[in-house]
Amino acid sequence: MVARPPLRLSVEAMGLPDLPEVQAIERLSFTTPWPPHAYRTELQSNRLAHYVVARADGRVVGFAGMWLMVDEAHVTTFAVHPAWRRQRIGERMLLSLIDVALARGAREATLEVRLSNLGARRLYEKYGFRPVGLRPRYYSDDNEDALIMTTETLDGAPMQARLARLRAALEAAPELESPDDGPAGDRGPAGGA
Ligand SMILES: CC(C)(COP(=O)(O)OP(=O)(O)OC[C@H]1O[C@@H](n2cnc3c(N)ncnc32)[C@H](O)[C@@H]1OP(=O)(O)O)[C@@H](O)C(=O)NCCC(=O)NCCS
Repeated sequence: MVARPPLRLSVEAMGLPDLPEVQAIERLSFTTPWPPHAYRTELQSNRLAHYVVARADGRVVGFAGMWLMVDEAHVTTFAVHPAWRRQRIGERMLLSLIDVALARGAREATLEVRLSNLGARRLYEKYGFRPVGLRPRYYSDDNEDALIMTTETLDGAPMQARLARLRAALEAAPELESPDDGPAGDRGPAGGA
């Protein structure tokens, strides 16, 4: 058997040519996807916005974004293609957003997540986000409440120690597996946020 070269994952700024793949992942991931023009408007007109894609050997396998508002980074969207989940792609994108937030002088990061979205909550908790409140009936499709989660001070010693530990773990993590190579792990259907 010929050994395959390792799959390379990169996290890069989202560009307009990425939008068809981003929207396909969006539709697989959320019950109420953003309308098609929303990402285009964000990329072209919102100077506070910062959006990234995760690419595995050129293919878009995830995307995430935030608004950088004065000293707060507000995560606006976050998804990994269902076939590529549980391979730390979400972690790599979150770390990339936090790095940019820190570089732009944000003191903390915040987001809303469905109360029932335990997978996403676990990811955010791992990166230092803690529940700070609820937005009742935040999601219009089913009136589910949103949990507001916020980090401690991004450049404080505890958060910096957490990020250093998580970065080291990511560097030591196993290589990505392509879903095209057959079944892997517990990848399931789209979770929905
Ligand atoms: C949430 C989501 C982005 C996670 O992406 P991912 O690449 O699969 O996550 P990772 O592999 O980086 O997981 C990192 C950590 O998150 C947690 N996690 C992620 N998915 C989980 C799941 N399904 N169940 C439990 N914990 C989960 C775990 O703590 C995991 O660390 P561990 O493997 O050491 O236990 C992905 O499931 C997704 O796109 N879901 C649908 C869209 C969505 O819910 N977006 C969030 C909107 S707020």
